[in-house]
Amino acid sequence: LENGLARRPPMGWLSWAQFGCATDCKKSPNKCISDKLIRRTTDAMVSQGYLKAGYEYVIVDDCWFAKNRDKNGRLQPDPERFPHGMKDLANYIHDKQMKFGIYEDIGTHTCAGYPGLQGHFQEDAKTFAEWEIDYIKVDGCYMNPDQAMINKYVEFGDYLNKTGRSITYSCSWPAYMPVEQADYSLLPKTCNLWRNAWDIGDSWSSISGILKWFARRQDIIAQFAGPGHWNDPDMLIIGNNKLTPGQSKAQMSLWAILAAPLLMSADLDLVSSSDRDILQNRDVIAINQDELGIQGLLVKKASKHTDVWTRKLTPIVDNFHSYAIAFLNKENNGADKVTVTLSDVGLTSTKKYFVCEVFKNQKKPHLININAKFTVKVNSEDVRLYKAIPATPKMLNCKKHL
Ligand code: GLA
Repeated sequence: LENGLARRPPMGWLSWAQFGCATDCKKSPNKCISDKLIRRTTDAMVSQGYLKAGYEYVIVDDCWFAKNRDKNGRLQPDPERFPHGMKDLANYIHDKQMKFGIYEDIGTHTCAGYPGLQGHFQEDAKTFAEWEIDYIKVDGCYMNPDQAMINKYVEFGDYLNKTGRSITYSCSWPAYMPVEQADYSLLPKTCNLWRNAWDIGDSWSSISGILKWFARRQDIIAQFAGPGHWNDPDMLIIGNNKLTPGQSKAQMSLWAILAAPLLMSADLDLVSSSDRDILQNRDVIAINQDELGIQGLLVKKASKHTDVWTRKLTPIVDNFHSYAIAFLNKENNGADKVTVTLSDVGLTSTKKYFVCEVFKNQKKPHLININAKFTVKVNSEDVRLYKAIPATPKMLNCKKHL
């Protein structure tokens, strides 16, 4: 959507994958969807360095609502869990130089059964603007997934626009229908990002399933990603202690290759320092946030277990792109050794590249000819991520290079 927002994939935190619809604050005071959780997360974003690394949105997913609208038909948060109201919460977040996001649904109800937008588009858009919301995720439960649903998303987007407030618009209609029906060409005109597939779960198999979904449909969907409009493979689940370090690096790397929104969903007070380092790795974030915004692709199945994905990046040197290259061993069958040339994975446009590995403290880049064979060993359910820059006579070091 050309509203000046999301020129790079949005980065932030979203409650759903980790906190779901926990509403019983007596039973789980630290885990329920509440003002307290959002403020605590906001504080942690600052004190633990996430904001500095680029994560700026704090987004409350479903279940922030009171069961019903107020007597004037306006949306209201649950009064016990959000006792200060949403405007006050927005102020708190803005004071910390961050942005506030919220969740709604285009149908009659949200997926968890709270009041939906249907029949209230104009007043609800106005309410969100009054609350000084900066981002809205609009889900697609409780409505038939057809063309009329798509039209409703367009209509609600118009009302958001009419408020005059800059609000990043996350749509979900493609997640509710087959790719062929979802009218992808309308997405970049209507939404800043959109969920494509099913909900991510807290496991490696869920991540690899989503990657498979993206790879299968990449020829259709990748072309619609770019500055202002992104495909969204769903939240990062790094930091929930459900992934090994290798799996965490793999999710981060592949989300970078896919130019995906980086929306963490973890209890930031419980994230291990090694997971935090992965989430805040500047080199992989720089790949994700590359200004060209070109979504990467699966380019080669290097072995039965290991796929090679690449993404075109800046700098462009003498008309040749730089690339991110990820070797992903999806399987749990031990380390896999694969041999490829850069030309095998699509880097055919110049003779030599400087190559540096992300997640390593490599100092000197390798100078690799596009037809030279090189072998990469990738552990089970792990990744090796590289950046390749067309070689120039001036030798770079990896610090500058990444
Ligand atoms: C759907 C969405 C999830 C989450 C829940 C909330 O399942 O895909 O991301 O927002 O609804 O109920």
